Amino acid sequence: MTSRSFLPIVLGAGLGTRMRSDVPKVMHEIGNLPLVGHVLKALQAAGADRIAVVIGPDMPELERAVARISPNASCYVQTERLGTAHAALAAEPALQQASDDVLVLFGDTPLVTEATISRVRDGLAAGADVAVLGFEAKNPFGYGRLLTCDGRLMAIREEKDATDEERKVTLCNSGIMGFNGKVALELMQAVGNANAKGEFYLTDAVEIANERGLTVKAVSAEEEEVQGVNTRAQLAACEAVFQKRARLAAMEAGVTLHAPETVYFSHDTELGVDVVVEPNVVFGPDVKVATEVRIRAFSHLEGARVGSGTSMGPYARLRPGAELMEDTHIGNFVEIKKAVVGRGAKVNHLSYIGDADIGAGSNVGAGTITCNYDGFGKHRTVIGDGSFIGSNATLVAPITLGKGVYVAAGSTVTEDVSDDALVLGRARQSEKPKRAAELRARFKAAKNAAKS
Ligand code: UD1
Ligand code: CA
Repeated sequence: MTSRSFLPIVLGAGLGTRMRSDVPKVMHEIGNLPLVGHVLKALQAAGADRIAVVIGPDMPELERAVARISPNASCYVQTERLGTAHAALAAEPALQQASDDVLVLFGDTPLVTEATISRVRDGLAAGADVAVLGFEAKNPFGYGRLLTCDGRLMAIREEKDATDEERKVTLCNSGIMGFNGKVALELMQAVGNANAKGEFYLTDAVEIANERGLTVKAVSAEEEEVQGVNTRAQLAACEAVFQKRARLAAMEAGVTLHAPETVYFSHDTELGVDVVVEPNVVFGPDVKVATEVRIRAFSHLEGARVGSGTSMGPYARLRPGAELMEDTHIGNFVEIKKAVVGRGAKVNHLSYIGDADIGAGSNVGAGTITCNYDGFGKHRTVIGDGSFIGSNATLVAPITLGKGVYVAAGSTVTEDVSDDALVLGRARQSEKPKRAAELRARFKAAKNAAKS
């Protein structure tokens, strides 16, 4: 039903008192994306042309996050928190512009999928004036109950207003409600606040619609998909579902995960086919990995690009700006930051490579450090193609080493090096024959003298 115009309103005002946080509730993250961002992404996938997001006063970070994640979203401020119908009406200017379908969703219910959003819209397209997404709750406490009669949805009763009999109902309101765009605004405006909480409940629109002879319908979803976040424990529960989905999606896309439950994904992780991920790997934000890459155990990646055929880890760390070209080898305890490692280059052991360009086919020996920071600024190290950096070299940036350079092990290199040069930046070895034996004899004698 993609030809129908579609206005989603995402409610996200409030800090969420049970989160005990100074951050707006919907700014808490799962998969490194704010909760509200997951809802926005699902709505974009479902084809929303414009999105209204209702926020609280003084939430500039939330406003910026919304603009960044969804350029076609506009924020509306609900100045007082008077209930979900009142919140939806904060977006009245958006509601004034005609749309076929109006959907209200909660920013704290992040796991809803494009498919489910489309099913609610299908209900509207099939003639419903109000379509409510319900679910069978294992523990219905706290949710609005869907009161049905002969299969028809008559009303939604909030926990605090329900009779004992009504509280036994396990079919609950997920919070996602669809409205025929022609009646959405008038139904929301007709909601009053004569209830236990003194709030304007959007859920009352169901009873009002029935009184007006409009068509009301319930659509159902799995509880896992509509679970909301009111506490830190529920945040962790949603993170777990997000990770489970991300792992399955990766495997379905052709990635091997040796121990899926130990691999952590971001919302934007991209892995090519035949990537193999060993146990205990963490993908931070903004990581793209090409095909046939092996990521060994305990590696941590963020803000990084990894070229085909590369192997990294165990215990490798890629920080923002790390760019590994094809067929590179990054070994254990190597940290790469804001650096390009050229095709086929190797950095196999215990190195820090920051603010650097390493030429194709170069070999960086164990323990090599780029000294990129002088306490004030960051400086670049450039290493030409086919160079060999001996173990434990210290490259003091800014510095440029040409192509085919050979740096002797243990060198401290402070000046630029020309192509094909050998550079030694260390003390010359000197040998004192028999001196070790002499020293031992002297020390032993001194110790014996002290004892007697
Ligand atoms: C709401 C529903 C309930 C449903 C449950 C599902 C109502 C009256 N009740 O209850 O039927 O079972 O969600 O989780 O709709 N918000 C605002 N401004 C407000 C009030 C709320 O923006 O003035 C936003 C909140 O940020 C939140 C969402 O609306 O994202 C839901 O509000 P909340 O107070 O958590 O509603 P519940 O009592 O959980
Ligand atoms: Ca809630």
